[in-house]
Amino acid sequence: MGTQQAKVLLHRQRIVSKISPYLFGGFVEHMGRCVYEGIYEPASPHADANGIRRDVLAALKNMGVTIIRYPGGNFLSGYDWRDGVGPKSQRPRKRDLAWKSIETNQFGTHEFLDYCAQLGADPMLGVNLGTGDIALASAYVEYVNAPAGTYWADQRVANGQRDPWGVKWWCLGNEMDGPWQIGHLDAVEYGKKALEAAKMMKWNDESIKLVLAGSSSNGMPTYPTWDRTILELCYEHVDVLSMHYYAGNRIDDTASYLGLARTFEEYVDTLASTVQYVKALKRSKKTVKLSWDEWNVWYKNMQMDGKWEVAPHLIEEVYNLEDALVVAQWLNVFLRKSDVLEAACLAQMVNVIAPILTTKDQMLLQSTYYPFQMMASRARGNALDAYVDSPVYSTKSESDIPYIDVSASWDNNTNTGACFIVNRHQSESMTVIIRCDDGMPAVKATAAVSVYGNNPKAHNTFDAPDAIVARPLQSFAHQDGAIVVTVPPMSATAVDLKSENS
Ligand code: AHR
Repeated sequence: MGTQQAKVLLHRQRIVSKISPYLFGGFVEHMGRCVYEGIYEPASPHADANGIRRDVLAALKNMGVTIIRYPGGNFLSGYDWRDGVGPKSQRPRKRDLAWKSIETNQFGTHEFLDYCAQLGADPMLGVNLGTGDIALASAYVEYVNAPAGTYWADQRVANGQRDPWGVKWWCLGNEMDGPWQIGHLDAVEYGKKALEAAKMMKWNDESIKLVLAGSSSNGMPTYPTWDRTILELCYEHVDVLSMHYYAGNRIDDTASYLGLARTFEEYVDTLASTVQYVKALKRSKKTVKLSWDEWNVWYKNMQMDGKWEVAPHLIEEVYNLEDALVVAQWLNVFLRKSDVLEAACLAQMVNVIAPILTTKDQMLLQSTYYPFQMMASRARGNALDAYVDSPVYSTKSESDIPYIDVSASWDNNTNTGACFIVNRHQSESMTVIIRCDDGMPAVKATAAVSVYGNNPKAHNTFDAPDAIVARPLQSFAHQDGAIVVTVPPMSATAVDLKSENS
């Protein structure tokens, strides 16, 4: 095992953008055991009086989740939000056709918004544009955000919530480009329906932010025409365009898998350009931003048939070291593209393709929990435009992939920052020389933490929960005005930075 060398140059005035806090979001869908047995499980010894799993809530708080998208996902396109409000004993038990599961509706809008308040995260609610109509979407905004005194707002009050919640983020349906979607539409049909829903929803509350459902992946045959078409129809009435993508090491080629950041960046670039094109076409003054509101690794567990059970075990993916490194570089991309990305939601939060797994009395943090937690707790202020000079490697299909993948943040209010480094090399450590010669007070490293291992397939289990976790890293020093950090092979590292006068 050897060591290679790379250089990173930071300048605190070379800024990509202010970092949106919503880049560290999550996604909770009524699917499998995400809601039931995940965040809500009255029979668990960890549940509070309302059935909320306190251990999971604490883990999500510690993870730094800032916004949660709910209630789906494909589930959304068959969901009637009215089923999930009012006395629990009167809520209907229904078939969920998206996941062939039974939905008991014991958890709904009130429970979710209460959960967000406890977590300290903003909610992002979806309206059903599959089986749902624009009147129901509009009524939902009134129910959630209007002051008492009209029909739907008064229903909310009768159900125990006097004050409006003032939910800001609203999604106009989910993955409506997908033939698998309940009520799937073509781009023009969806664009027209989304436009009419958007108008009514904003007439109810003009302060809300609307997320238009972009392509469900860059592999869709309709991508990116779908995005251009719906933007052309809705541009002035929406604020954000969504993007979804699930990554996987389907051909078991770790070197290629670890190089995926380029794919992620190209995807953002294409949609940002599509937005720019439509903005110019419309002679618009506003810029629609992007919300990567479903992203994660998902390719090993494709069990999606709930066999008409309540809370079936669906897509309970087990995450290993290489998955955690893909998640880490995805987060790097969010900082590098923070000028166009306003939100991102890791899909999902518990049990279903999630960083957290539960049994009735236990909880396990998977490998992917750690890079998210490392960045969400550190990235504040501005994302910096880091210059990176790294040795490169080639895969079967790509060349010039830098061994290190880097992002950085700096907060002028606290004079602290962080540098996030993924080392893609599978056998060699990397000595990274970080310089910050920007004429401002010198920057020092104060601590470092890293997720690493020598087996890309290593993962945590309930019996051995600490195989892949974040560990303090001591291998950093200061030399000739630079910070010198040696990061292990196959690692994701966060280096804490502080300027001398702070
Ligand atoms: O997150 C699982 C599913 O993946 C979501 O329900 C859907 O939006 C996507 O296809």
